[in-house]
Amino acid sequence: MTSSSIMGAGIGLRIPHVQQLLADESIEIPWLEVLVDNWLVDGGLNQHLLKVVSERFELVFHSVGLSLGGPSPLDFNYLSQIKALKEQCGAHWYSEHASFSGNDDFKVADLLPLPYTQEAVMHISQRIKQAQDFLGERILLENVSTYMSCRHNELSEGEFIAAIAEEADCYLLLDINNAFVTSVNLNQSMQSFMDSIPVERVKQIHLAGFHDKGDYLLDAHNHPVAPSVWAAFKSYINKHGAIPSMIEWDNELPTLERLLQERQIAADILREPSLVGASDDAGDERCA
Ligand SMILES: [Fe+2]
Repeated sequence: MTSSSIMGAGIGLRIPHVQQLLADESIEIPWLEVLVDNWLVDGGLNQHLLKVVSERFELVFHSVGLSLGGPSPLDFNYLSQIKALKEQCGAHWYSEHASFSGNDDFKVADLLPLPYTQEAVMHISQRIKQAQDFLGERILLENVSTYMSCRHNELSEGEFIAAIAEEADCYLLLDINNAFVTSVNLNQSMQSFMDSIPVERVKQIHLAGFHDKGDYLLDAHNHPVAPSVWAAFKSYINKHGAIPSMIEWDNELPTLERLLQERQIAADILREPSLVGASDDAGDERCA
């Protein structure tokens, strides 16, 4: 499928749900997000199966392995695999994170935030441009959850993301759960972050559930979307109009039926944000 745009609410494609999604013709989902890393690894999932999924559903691609903010050269072998699979499946776009995952000697399976400095803006922007030149299209850059602030910061996170988007001329993936987790963990305003994001570049929204650890919120993708995150989403859509949005639920994975219930809330808000019951604040109040 290769139409130029998608609309409405999607879900992340998770392996235990694949067969049911393919077998049940009554399931109507406008699009699925594919965590492409799962389909690239040696001994990983059958790319032919993903092609079959792409013939039934519209797809977008997402990855966690590019380390766009890292110090090591970009992995063009990784990118070439993503490019080939994306072309094979007709996925609409590809997104990655405003983060890094170690260096040549020390890699971590995590999305570490960058210092919010002009130097870091130029560093990651130059690498985004490299990736975009290679792929022949603009990518989407996602804000990550953070647990501590860097004392070298010169910009707010929102200013940092906006500056990268401008410098690299990329699109954005706004993760509203990540924004909420960060705002609680760092005791800062979610509203000011959301207001700093250039909405004209936001092509997709992520919604997910966090794990309340008491002292902090963990971006665990193991719960339903929290009421405050729904409220912030509703407020954003009310203000800016519908933007393709999806539910990320990776751990303690529910049944497909439960995941589709969560998706339906997002779909209803996208369709009629003023009719869905949730407060109009932007989630500055903690509510787990
Ligand atoms: Fe996300």
